Amino acid sequence: MQITIALAKGRLAEKAMVILEKCGIECADMFKDSRKLIFFDEKNDIRFIMVKPTDVPTYVDHGVADMGVVGKDTLMEAGLPLYEMADLKYGKCKLAIAGYPNKQDNSLTTSILRVATKYPEVAKKYYASKGESIECIKLNGSVELGPLLGLSDVILDIVESGRTLVENGLEVTEDVAEVSARLAVNRASLKIKASVMKPLIEKIQKAVEES
Ligand code: PRP
Repeated sequence: MQITIALAKGRLAEKAMVILEKCGIECADMFKDSRKLIFFDEKNDIRFIMVKPTDVPTYVDHGVADMGVVGKDTLMEAGLPLYEMADLKYGKCKLAIAGYPNKQDNSLTTSILRVATKYPEVAKKYYASKGESIECIKLNGSVELGPLLGLSDVILDIVESGRTLVENGLEVTEDVAEVSARLAVNRASLKIKASVMKPLIEKIQKAVEES
C-alpha cells in the first residue's frame, strides 16, 4: 500500500529526510539538481511530493498526501483538522508580537490595534482569546516594515535569531507560540492505511526521541 508524504520544498525538506533516513526511508534522487516535484522510494513504496510550505496542510487535508512535514506556524494558520503526530524538533523559532518599545498601547485608547502579519488567522485567534479586537493587515513578507512605515502598530511574525527585529528597531512584546517542524497526518489515511501508517509514525517518533 503506497503512502504519499508531502514535504516543504527547500532546506527543511533535507532536515525531514535526515529523520526519515533513520527510519530506513531513502530518496537520493530528491536532492539532485532537478525540477521534479514527485519522487519515489520504491523499496518502501513511498511517494514524496515537494510543495510550498503553506500548501502542505492542504494536500494532507485533502488526502492527496497521507502525511506531511510542516512548521507549527503553518499548521496553526491553516487551522485544518489534521492529526499532529510528532514534534520533529527542528526549525525551532517562535511566533511573537513585536513593536516599538515604549509605544503607547492603542488598545487602551479609542483606536483599534493594527497588526501586520503573514498569519492573519493566528493573529485574529490570539487577540480574540484575550478579548481584544484588532485590524489585521495581511502581508506576504518584510512584515517588519509595518510599524516602520506606520502601516501597523505591531506585527505578529516568526522570530528566529531576533536579528531582523533588532536591525529594524523593534522588539518582542508578547510570545504567541513555540514553533518547530511537525508531522501532520490525514485522519482518514490513519484509519484506512493503519497497517503501514502506524508503524511508520512510531518509527519517526522513535527516531526523533533518539536524536
Ligand atoms: C522571516 C520572518 C522574519 C525573519 C525572522 O522572514 O518573517 O522576518 O525571518 O528571522 P530572524 O529572527 O532570524 O531575523 P523570511 O526570512 O522568511 O522573509 P520574509 O520577510 O520575506 O517573509
